[in-house]
Amino acid sequence: MAISLTGRSFLTLLDFTPEEITHLIDESARFKELKHHHSLHHWLEGKNVALIFEKTSTRTRSSFEVAASDLGMGSTTLDPSSSQMGAKESVEDTARVLGRIFDGICYRGYAQRTAEIMAEVAGVPVWNALTDDFHPTQMIADFLTIRENLGTLAGKKLVFFGDARNNVANSLMVASAKLGLHYTACGPEALRPAPELVERCRAIAEETGGSVSLTENPAEGASGADVLYTDIWLSMGEPPELWAERIELLIPYRVTPKLMGLAANDAIFLHCLPSFHDTETTVGKEIHERFGLKEMEVSDKVFRGPRSRVFDEAENRMHSIKAVMYCTLC
Ligand code: CP
Ligand code: NVA
Repeated sequence: MAISLTGRSFLTLLDFTPEEITHLIDESARFKELKHHHSLHHWLEGKNVALIFEKTSTRTRSSFEVAASDLGMGSTTLDPSSSQMGAKESVEDTARVLGRIFDGICYRGYAQRTAEIMAEVAGVPVWNALTDDFHPTQMIADFLTIRENLGTLAGKKLVFFGDARNNVANSLMVASAKLGLHYTACGPEALRPAPELVERCRAIAEETGGSVSLTENPAEGASGADVLYTDIWLSMGEPPELWAERIELLIPYRVTPKLMGLAANDAIFLHCLPSFHDTETTVGKEIHERFGLKEMEVSDKVFRGPRSRVFDEAENRMHSIKAVMYCTLC
């Protein structure tokens, strides 16, 4: 049966079937092909989208803007300092207004509930561009990148090292379960994913042939892994005072050449980015001065090494966000 996602919001992959997620990955690959062949695809000409960014962004915002333009759509980016949302107008009223003006709404912010409220009242698709809980558009790009490199998804071992209860890790666990991968959350007990989400993903994985496991042992996590994935140790919205505690908890989970050496021969390294792999950032410099660390969640050698696919992954954000907008608006 043909898959249609028309009119659907995209808030978490928990709402989508494995077939629907695979369809989005297939469509992302198709859009990548078109872009690389300079084939115009103004297939949504006349439509307009609103892009709300309450948190900072490089990849996601650029991807939504370029994807909208490539599809022939107009886009308007709103941030807290240039809109009434939150301060003078409720989320609900804002969503109702934007739903009258635009054909779709992208939302990056804090509570997942905010994205849900918007989707309930806007009357047009709402796309989650990252909340504290989930980052679903990132997943379509990530699993496209894995498929491009490893050929298949089901049966592969994907390990997340670090803050295994953050938005990216939660989404990787859901996506892996949906697509039949063996997912391992590798991090300290204090930063484990919520037990309810783990149980939910385990139930999904039982249906798809995948699995979900948790370990505090980095060598056990890396052993035989096909994909090693990490993310920054302190996510947007978390207070900088937490750095000292986080660093102490997470240093053993840095993705190093030694850990890569325990993985499968053709294993790849992924990171949603941005990454602290050197001291070329303001925060990286501060951390170096305060704690003496030159790299954090990943060694510079791994980040720049032959198994790293982080820039392909970043490019794939645009193709996959295009697929998400196209499939829900066409
Ligand atoms: N990976 C990602 O979402 O990057 P940005 O924060 O730059 O959008
Ligand atoms: N966990 C990170 C992801 C950034 C893309 C954050 O929320 O800041």
